[in-house]
Amino acid sequence: MSIWDDLASRHAAVKERAILSLFDDRRAAEFSARFGALLFDYSKTNIDAETRDLLLGLAEGAGLAARREAMFTGARINETEGRAVLHTALRNPDAQVIVDGRDVMPGVRETLARMEAFAEDVRAGRFLGQGGAITDVVNIGIGGSDLGPAMAVLALAPYHSGPRCHFVSNVDGAHVADTLKDLNPETTLIIVASKTFTTIETMTNADTARAWMAARVAEPAAQFAALSSASDRTGAYGIDPARVFGFEDWVGGRYSMWGPIGLSLMIAIGPERFREFLAGGAAMDAHFRSAPLAENLPVLLALVGIWHNQICGHATRAVLPYDQRLLRLPAYLQQLEMESNGKRVAMDGSDLARHSGPVVWGEPGTNGQHAFYQLIHQGTRVVPCEFLLAAQGHEPDLAHHHRLLVANCLAQSEALLRGRSLEEARAMLEQKGLSGAELDRQARHRVFPGNRPSTTLAYPQLTPEVLGQIIALYEHRVFVEGVILGINSFDQWGVELGKELAVALQPMIEGGPVPDDKDGSTRQLLAFVRGH
Ligand code: F6P
Repeated sequence: MSIWDDLASRHAAVKERAILSLFDDRRAAEFSARFGALLFDYSKTNIDAETRDLLLGLAEGAGLAARREAMFTGARINETEGRAVLHTALRNPDAQVIVDGRDVMPGVRETLARMEAFAEDVRAGRFLGQGGAITDVVNIGIGGSDLGPAMAVLALAPYHSGPRCHFVSNVDGAHVADTLKDLNPETTLIIVASKTFTTIETMTNADTARAWMAARVAEPAAQFAALSSASDRTGAYGIDPARVFGFEDWVGGRYSMWGPIGLSLMIAIGPERFREFLAGGAAMDAHFRSAPLAENLPVLLALVGIWHNQICGHATRAVLPYDQRLLRLPAYLQQLEMESNGKRVAMDGSDLARHSGPVVWGEPGTNGQHAFYQLIHQGTRVVPCEFLLAAQGHEPDLAHHHRLLVANCLAQSEALLRGRSLEEARAMLEQKGLSGAELDRQARHRVFPGNRPSTTLAYPQLTPEVLGQIIALYEHRVFVEGVILGINSFDQWGVELGKELAVALQPMIEGGPVPDDKDGSTRQLLAFVRGH
């Protein structure tokens, strides 16, 4: 029997058990782990000591320790692309990291220093647009070249001390048009963020922004910067190498916000705060690399994920930040987790033995409560929930709002755990004066099955350092899940086919011939669009 089989048997044995029955004086502490500013509480899941031991055995059996070391030391663990995976080096600039016999860190430090000098120049009004000091920065990128900085710029709004930052990603002209319409081209800096500098959405938006600027600015290229690994292409686009910030192929797109792709964040919060963000990530790296598996936050998060998805069969995972400024965290995690672990073939080319990573979705509480929590509480499918909770907000004058926010977060995980029995529902209705057949009919609708698992990640306040810890925590969680599933979490071949078909379809949308082998639905939709 494999550990997977043991876990399946364990699940069969405990699946009807009430999670609430597991609680004694010690459970909350024993099924929680702390690191840095973070408390990760997974006691409101059906994981007990025996299950946890099996899960830890799964991680050990998958060779996690060796894979982890291989990642940190620059081995080419992204085997399908033949690349090392070293985004961790970006947040630990004082380290020494050797790739192919060469210390890559002098290059990292030099780029970071150039970014800092440029960010300071922009913030201090030394770098000027045609109309004077820069008032607005527009980051044009998509996927990993957008979601990280867009999420973090919003998350760290209380720390903003620079020009306003905007993000354009969608090739839908509405996005660039709505973003630029109120900006002054003479005081706007455009940052084209694209690792490859070929992504069609980004290059189309960059061209549009350049034309918008050219209408008012004599030298638009002078107000452009680029974040890219492709210096030949940024040069051909006319961007001065002094404003090109490069990174190497061992930084994957969705792991890239710690380096040049984070430039807009650095401009918004300043280099010092950006360093705090990096330090938070680096601290989580050190913890992940050295803490015993049973106390290791990324490992525990991953094991809870594996338990719920691959063992219990819950296909989705809701991320529910009780922190409005983490509005974009679910979208960020969708890319991080689903682009990394949404794979059907294992590293060795065989079919994946189990399901790939979960569908990740979510919204900040309390908004979600008034939208989709109904299904989470009373729907027929179980949705494991991951709550995030800041003990403190940044609005001391509005502390009563924060108390209400916290109360709601705790109430939701408690409600999921406890539920409400038929007897309780009946008693409640009797108190309201209902009786007889009407009471019987109404009571069932008010029953909550409960016993629905959730975890809570709590932190004191969403500072740059804490955000760094949280994001690095999720990155490593994805890595651990990938190792256990035998997946390469660092390629993304699944995005290719749609891109190729889009290129082929474009001339058809413009009226060109439609090949005979196009399916009937696509032909019909093409005809509809062409007809309008
Ligand atoms: O969606 C595929 C993808 O390659 C992502 O992995 C990446 O983050 C995004 O496109 C953007 O790529 P680039 O930075 O090269 O424009």
